[in-house]
Parts: sequence; structure tokens; C-alpha cells
Amino acid sequence: MYLRSFADSDGDGIGDLGGLLDRLPYLADLGVDALWITPWYPSPMADGGYDVADYCDIDPRFGTLADADALLAEAHRLGLRVITDLVANHTSEQHPWFVAALAAGPGSPERARYFFRDGRAGGEQPPNDWISAFGGPAWSRVREPDGFPGQWYLHLFAPQQPDLDWDHPGVREDFDAILRFWFDRGIDGIRVDAAPAMAKVTGLPDAGHGPGALFESRTWVGNPHWDVEEVHDILRRWRRIGDSYEGGRLFVTEAVVNGPERLSRYVRPDEMHTSFNFDYLTSPWDARSLRAVIDASLAALAPVGAPATWVLSSHDETRHATRFGRADTTAAIGGGAMGFDTAAPADRELGLRRARAAVLLTLALPGSAYLYQGEELGLPEVEDLPEDVLQDPTWERSGHTARGRDGCRVPLPWAGDSPPFGFTEDGVAPWLPQPADWATSTVAAQRADPGSTLSLYRTALHLRRSVLVSADESMVWIDAADDVLAFDRGTALRCVVNLSGEPLDVTGHGEVLLASGPGDGRLPPDTAAWFRVDGG
Ligand code: NOJ
Repeated sequence: MYLRSFADSDGDGIGDLGGLLDRLPYLADLGVDALWITPWYPSPMADGGYDVADYCDIDPRFGTLADADALLAEAHRLGLRVITDLVANHTSEQHPWFVAALAAGPGSPERARYFFRDGRAGGEQPPNDWISAFGGPAWSRVREPDGFPGQWYLHLFAPQQPDLDWDHPGVREDFDAILRFWFDRGIDGIRVDAAPAMAKVTGLPDAGHGPGALFESRTWVGNPHWDVEEVHDILRRWRRIGDSYEGGRLFVTEAVVNGPERLSRYVRPDEMHTSFNFDYLTSPWDARSLRAVIDASLAALAPVGAPATWVLSSHDETRHATRFGRADTTAAIGGGAMGFDTAAPADRELGLRRARAAVLLTLALPGSAYLYQGEELGLPEVEDLPEDVLQDPTWERSGHTARGRDGCRVPLPWAGDSPPFGFTEDGVAPWLPQPADWATSTVAAQRADPGSTLSLYRTALHLRRSVLVSADESMVWIDAADDVLAFDRGTALRCVVNLSGEPLDVTGHGEVLLASGPGDGRLPPDTAAWFRVDGG
């Protein structure tokens, strides 16, 4: 759930907890098990709430702590669990810890919570060569209380997001209390933001980034500010806190690291339960690559005994209905790390056809699947947002070369023929403008149509629950052509995805349970189907 784009209940054009509460029945009916809600804390919103000014409260734009309690209670009543987002690598520059650090000056205990260092070259140059995920150096220079330029502070993301020093005992203890604050309120789990960033090599040595280096953490080996061993101490500490609650609490990390083996280290038995799998998300729409990623993910996780996760879209990525409609179907993370290459035009119809097939693949795989709000409506990336509405820090930090992530964050269309499509009150402008042609994409328009993408997701999620829940966790590939993916999940279900350019005869596979396209014995190109396995 990208909260500010889900549903607005108070007419300010920004999604909020009241809007989410009102729509919980929609989510329960859709068939999801749990909600991961993006940061809801008080925030200046320099990075969409990932710049937190107070970890134990709710931003007034989203509601109050009482609203969060009400949401939790109602979600639990409907059988939905709730995962909140914890941003612990960095705070907002407006967090009282950072405000105090700035005021206290060099060498003060307040500055020791963050990474304040003197610059090189007489103070004029950053202390080392580290780079920001949003482009440019990872250091900004401060004006000291005496009015003169002084030390530099580290921010692996935007300058408004100073990195905390996790070697500081007070930081560790304060976050222990923050975890308990939310667990005590009934939160079922935590999504750990930017987990690999949370430890840095002592002494902050240069990373060897050359001029113009991009934040390509999936390619880094031995980097001093990413995926550093001590991260795991923090994760173990948190796991112990979660486990101290009756029934335990769930942790899922965001960890964009170098391949499945490095990822598996985040989900060792005493660390996190699951981690997002970016190798799957960034795989091209190509049978060989997808199969290789699936096999490598499962193989790397087997020794640590952790379930896999699968995800195709998020509030950080180009929506896959658009990605898969491009000649280059990879996520195209580049041009300033989290910016997207919007140069290649997307074939909307092809992208949607593949997106529908992809969800049947994703939901048939063993492990847990994360869906991003709006993908169940087949929404595309909004690639033509006017430049003056762009809010993602990537846009400014890249010198207006990478538009950033706003195109996947456009408020959802619920009903009606024109903006705001029921997202907020009529006459109110949503915080990002919606395309005028979304009338056929609304929940109301799709709900009654059995052929809609919403109906496909709903049926798939309910089938997954009823059929797959009892299935053997393993998957077994079955013989198929090179550009076809076909596998069984025990005797519960067979999934066949046709990634070839030709229709595929599937008459031998048995009864069709669900198909992303016409399911009449032939799968057209870029479609998928689920079958009941004979005897299952
Ligand atoms: C990952 C979040 O998903 C993203 O939205 C955010 O910009 C960065 N972490 C920094 O917190």
C-alpha cells in the first residue's frame, strides 16, 4: 500500500488511513493475506515519507495514532495482517536528533548519532567518494552554528535523509523501543527499509566509485557502505525482539544486493523471515532468464530454510504492465539509480497481456508474493506527468535527467468517468494528476467484468489460497519448449506460461482452472494458465 495514493477520506487529495480503513473490505475480498503500508510517520515528505521526523506517531496528513489503532483492529477483524515500514538507516533532517546534532556542533555527543566528518582538501571536498542512491555525492556540508561552512554529513539517499551511525549504542536502544512501540500496538510485522545500508565499514574508506558512478548495488562486491557484515548484528537484535512477542512478529527486508546468495544471508534462521527478491523483479520477460532466476532464488534459500518472495512492481519501480510492453523489458534502473529510462515507448496492450500472464506465474511459485496497489487493475506507469508536478528527489538530484518514481505512484482510480475517479472528493485535485483515460481501469468498471484484470487477480488469489495452501512447497519443472515455463506444484496445480511468439497447444494438461487469456486448449503468446493436475 502506497498510502498517499490509495484512497483519500478527508478531501485534501492525499491518501490516508481513513481511506484505507474504508477500503479494507475491498482488500479482504481481493484475497490478500496482509498489508504492507509505506511509512505513515510525521515527515516533511522529501522522499515520500521515507524521511521520518518522529517514529512513534502518524503524520497528520495520514491521520492519528487512534486511526492507526482503528485500522489495525478492523484489519485483524477481517483476517488481514498489517506490516509497517521501518526506515532505520536514516532519519529526516527534521528529526529532533538531527536538529540537535546540527545545533550542537563538531565533536558533540549529538553529532555522534550520525556521520559528521571534516571534509578533505581543507574541508572543501567530501570526506570520501561515496554516492547517493538519488544521484550525486552522499555527503552534504553544513553551516555551523557560527555561520561558517563546516563539517559534512553522510546521506546515502537524499540530503534530507541523514544516515544514522548504528555503532552508536543509543541509536540501537532507541530503535529497540520503537519496534516495541509498534509491536505493542498490534503491528504484525516490519518491512525493513534499505537494510544493507545500515552498517558501514569503520573508518569510512573510499568505495572506489569513479566519476559519474551509479548506485548499482546489485553489482557491488566488498562495498564499504552496502551489505556490510555488521548489518546482520542489527537484524539479529531485531529478530530477538520480534520473537519475544507471543506468536512472533514477521520481518521482511528490502535488500538490493549482489545475487541470491548474498540475499540469503538476510534470511538465516536467526535473522529476517523473508526478503524481497529483486532478481525476479528485474528479470527480462524471457523464459530462460525467468527460469534461471527462479531456480537460483530457490537454491540459495534452501540451505537457510527461508521461503522465497516474488514481486513484480512496487512504489519504487516502473509498473510491470509498462515495463513488459517495452522492447527492453528489464526494470531499467539507471540514470541516477532509482530513475527510470522512459525513452523506449511501451506497447500498452502487449504489456498488459504479459502482466496478466506474469501474475499467474508469480502466484503459482512457492513462497510469498507481494503485489503493489493498482497492479490488480492492470495500471500502467504514467510516463507523461508534467515536469512541474514531479516530487521524487531523483528528479532534482539527477539534474532533471531521471524523472524518478512518481509515475508508479499516481493515485488509484476507484470509480467514475473522470479524475479524481473516486480517489478523493469531486473537484479536488489528487496530489499527482491521474490520466484522463483511466475510466475503464477503475475498480467499479472492472469489478463486474469477469474478464477484467481485477477479476483475474481476485480469482487467482482465492484459488491460491484454496488450492495451493495445501500443496507441497516444492515446484517441479515439466518438459516444455525453451520459451515455455511449465511446472507443477505437487498435485495441486500446474502452471504453464507461453513466452513464445506462437500459440501453444495445452490440451494435454488437463482441466483449466484459470487462464490469463482465452483458455480454450491453445495458449496465445504471452499468456498463462493454471491447470488441475490429473489425480490432484
Ligand atoms: C526504499 C524505499 O522503498 C524507497 O521508496 C526509499 O526512497 C528508499 N528506500 C530510501 O528510504
